[in-house]
Amino acid sequence: MTPERAPIARELLAFYLEAGVDCALSDEPVNWLAEDLAAAEQPAAKPVQFRTANVAPPPQRILAEPAPPPDAAIASAREIAPTAASLQDLRTLLEGFDGCALKATATRLVFADGNPQARIMFVGEAPGRDEDLEGLPFVGRSGKLLDLMMASIGLDRTSAYIANIIPWRPPGNRDPSPQETQICLPFIRRQIELVDPDILVCLGKPSSQAVLDVKDGIMKTRGKWIEYTTGTRKIRAMATFHPAYLLRQPIYKRLTWQDLRAIKRALGAAKPD
Ligand code: URA
Repeated sequence: MTPERAPIARELLAFYLEAGVDCALSDEPVNWLAEDLAAAEQPAAKPVQFRTANVAPPPQRILAEPAPPPDAAIASAREIAPTAASLQDLRTLLEGFDGCALKATATRLVFADGNPQARIMFVGEAPGRDEDLEGLPFVGRSGKLLDLMMASIGLDRTSAYIANIIPWRPPGNRDPSPQETQICLPFIRRQIELVDPDILVCLGKPSSQAVLDVKDGIMKTRGKWIEYTTGTRKIRAMATFHPAYLLRQPIYKRLTWQDLRAIKRALGAAKPD
């Protein structure tokens, strides 16, 4: 029998990428298999070490202190987010906030893109790999589609403001946990209040459920106007499909187009104060 050839480096990298391993957390590779073998050779009574204890996080990502328990982090976020007097203040607060463990694995904060004076604000879920590298929301494939969606109703990043509920990339693009969402929610609420748009658009189910506080999925929620209270006034909000979902399910572009036309009409109708 011919022995199987060993996979070449490119094949291994492709395998890792498909498995969601697309960023390095430490400078030196760690041979986990060697560690498993060493652990197996230990006398049975010895406790097995928790793997991550041996991995030194990259220096720039060490949190000042370990992230607090979720309840304390949520309480702290609710206390400090409303104190931001400007968007720059809010960014600075987030940069110093260690309550969300995602900060430790993300490369950088992804705060916002676009025009803070815009009358329309789009809110997505969380940055992906491209956003994490660039520090700007929606710059990858789904961002390109969002640009096209905006262009179809005469908008671009000079006339719209774009942010996410979660400003740090979840590792491997996993879904943010409910606790992570609750921890970050006071910050995006304050960001909406400071931008003070006339129209708010939530992209996808996680954004609409968290920001608009609705229980239904996107199929039921999309395309309907919902009143959103910014803290200082009531504005019109709408949920529509997330561009990443549209890349997988292009059939829903038709419904999205209806939502976009309704948004365009509302922008025409809503006059700035
Ligand atoms: N998906 C999001 O929800 N936000 C981004 O910034 C990019 C992809």
